[in-house]
Amino acid sequence: MDGFSKFLKIVLLVLVFPILSLTLLNVTGEVYGADADSGKKVYQKYCVICHGAKGDGKGLMDVIHRNEKSGLIWSIYPRDLTVGTFKFRTTATGCLPDDSDLMKIIKEGIPRSGMPSHEDVSKKEREDVIEFLKTLSPRWEEEDLCDVIIAKKPSWVGSADSVMKGEKVYKDMKCWECHGNEGKGDGSKANDLKDDWGDKILPFNFTTGTLKRGSSPENVYLTFTTGLDGTGMPSYEDSLKEDDRWHLVSYTLKLMGKVK
Ligand code: HEC
Ligand code: HEC
Repeated sequence: MDGFSKFLKIVLLVLVFPILSLTLLNVTGEVYGADADSGKKVYQKYCVICHGAKGDGKGLMDVIHRNEKSGLIWSIYPRDLTVGTFKFRTTATGCLPDDSDLMKIIKEGIPRSGMPSHEDVSKKEREDVIEFLKTLSPRWEEEDLCDVIIAKKPSWVGSADSVMKGEKVYKDMKCWECHGNEGKGDGSKANDLKDDWGDKILPFNFTTGTLKRGSSPENVYLTFTTGLDGTGMPSYEDSLKEDDRWHLVSYTLKLMGKVK
């Protein structure tokens, strides 16, 4: 008998206790952490109409915008999330975005693209849908995450001197090949650009448009620094010094009519 109760105690300690605690952990994990199963429901409610059941961008909505420029039709489609390429990151080119990047996109939406803001969706639901989104592309399992780049704006951004230096960088780096000499998005390459998803894409027109990433100088800086992966808009993190990238911000703000 004695031996048997010892045996029972050991069984309890070795088997039952770990199983019990794992189950408890799992339950609390579901209650307090972000979770992909709940995220799938959020996705089906708010996102599936555009991004499609498989996340491949082939939802009922199909094409969202059809613009015409110089006789060419330009269409915007909801993103194929199965490829795992993201434009608006605070991470280096080629990297996956940080959770905070996805949170920003889902909360604020993307101007000029039809991707709506989901401010009315609760924070927990947004966190869950981010976890679900990570099940759509194998990149999330295969790759390590990259460091977040922090934009620290120098006080001279927007000054006349900095605008002048930025104009030189704009010329030297040939931004005009795509964005045009006056930033109207009509450079010599502008009509032949395709994005990684095979669709026609137009360079940003600084004189009219609202910035997709958001209009603060920091957001503009991040666009040059990280590039917009999948769009042909390159990263200048390696080819331009930090100060030059900030001068470029000054010139961009000037082209956009935000500084004199
Ligand atoms: C009305 C259609 C529509 C709905 C609804 C929609 N999206 Fe989008 N989404 C788009 C379009 C269009 C783009 C591509 C924008 C671009 O490339 O400029 C996009 C892009 C994205 C991106 C890529 C951002 C990047 O940095 O490249 C993510 C992530 C995303 N959507 C997530 C979601 C989630 C999550 C939901 C639901 C909560 C959602 N979307 C709902 C249309 C939609
Ligand atoms: C090969 C063509 C190409 C070159 C070169 C290029 N861009 Fe772009 N750029 C693009 C395209 C295409 C987009 C639009 C991406 C989109 O709408 O998703 C863009 C978008 C932008 C945006 C808008 C981002 C937003 O939030 O909406 C800015 C700002 C910008 N480019 C600045 C520059 C500057 C400055 C240079 C030079 C240092 C440059 N680009 C070089 C193609 C290019």
